[in-house]
Amino acid sequence: MKVAVLTGGGDVPGLNAAIRAVARRSYQYGWDVLAIKKGWAGLVEGDIEPLTIDKVSGILHIGGTILGASRTNPLKNPAHMQACLDNLAKFDIDALVAIGGDDTLSVALGLYEKGAKVVGVPKTMDNDVAETEYCIGFDTATNTVADALDKLHTTASSHHRIIVVEVMGRDAGWVATVGGLAGGADLIVIPEVPMSLEQIAEHVNKRWDRGKTFSIIVVAEGAHIAGIRDSESVEGKRDAFGHIRLDRRGIGETVARELEDMTGFETRAVVLGHLQRGGSPSVFDRVLATRLGVGAVQLIREERFGYMVALKANKIVPVLLKDALAYTRTVDLELYKLAETFY
Ligand code: F6P
Repeated sequence: MKVAVLTGGGDVPGLNAAIRAVARRSYQYGWDVLAIKKGWAGLVEGDIEPLTIDKVSGILHIGGTILGASRTNPLKNPAHMQACLDNLAKFDIDALVAIGGDDTLSVALGLYEKGAKVVGVPKTMDNDVAETEYCIGFDTATNTVADALDKLHTTASSHHRIIVVEVMGRDAGWVATVGGLAGGADLIVIPEVPMSLEQIAEHVNKRWDRGKTFSIIVVAEGAHIAGIRDSESVEGKRDAFGHIRLDRRGIGETVARELEDMTGFETRAVVLGHLQRGGSPSVFDRVLATRLGVGAVQLIREERFGYMVALKANKIVPVLLKDALAYTRTVDLELYKLAETFY
């Protein structure tokens, strides 16, 4: 048996733990393991090499991905889809483990529908893949956000300022909600709950009236705020999956500028950006990635292709890739409302 593994989309901490788990469990069964480099780009180009035990040694705690990643989308070009199928045959790959978010997994599903033996593993710091409660990388990202908020609290309170903290989250505000809840945010603005600049300013003013002479406001990069241009109207390059680059939207800076004008309070913006995707994976992500990686190998053993491993009620379970891609898993509004208690 020959198994290949790839990581696609944005990198996150925990990918190496998942790669290691897929490889180590496969070696236990006496299988050969191949590394596909740079996500789907490696399968299109045939950039594939043996993944030997020495290559997965000592990587559990290291962020990023030893395989490299890309946002290459073979679905856009039938010739690239065919190249993927041809390379699976050329390298004698019996089964493929695709580790990624909805974009990467949509290609996995496309290949499965063309006859490839593919299983998926959910990874995205956005945590928005359907049918799983957690994706690899999300927990570490929220730890980074909470840590940043802890640090920003002291400077915001010392200077009596508003600090607007922009975090990642295109369609779902999981990172803003969980990171903000853990870090004691004074307001969280997410794509799921549109808000106006006036509402944000009013909230800050009320806090000042209550004697809270500083505010930490967490804003997801994809938030919908009346008065600020929406993500889709931002000009600029799109990635291969059609997503506009939200770092160019600069929502944190815009909210900060507007709030300073509207409230008269000194305001600063902090963009956490790719710091949220860096560093060593948290204990939770290491264990999750290990369980999901081993679970993916189990799916291959059971010949359940076209499935993704998922975490549900703390159990690793198989779900159909097509169900995992059926919708974007948005924030649990009960959790979001919980944060309001502390505003
Ligand atoms: O992978 C999802 C994500 O983390 C989004 O939240 C963010 O918009 C995007 O990646 C940014 O990725 P990059 O700068 O690597 O293209």
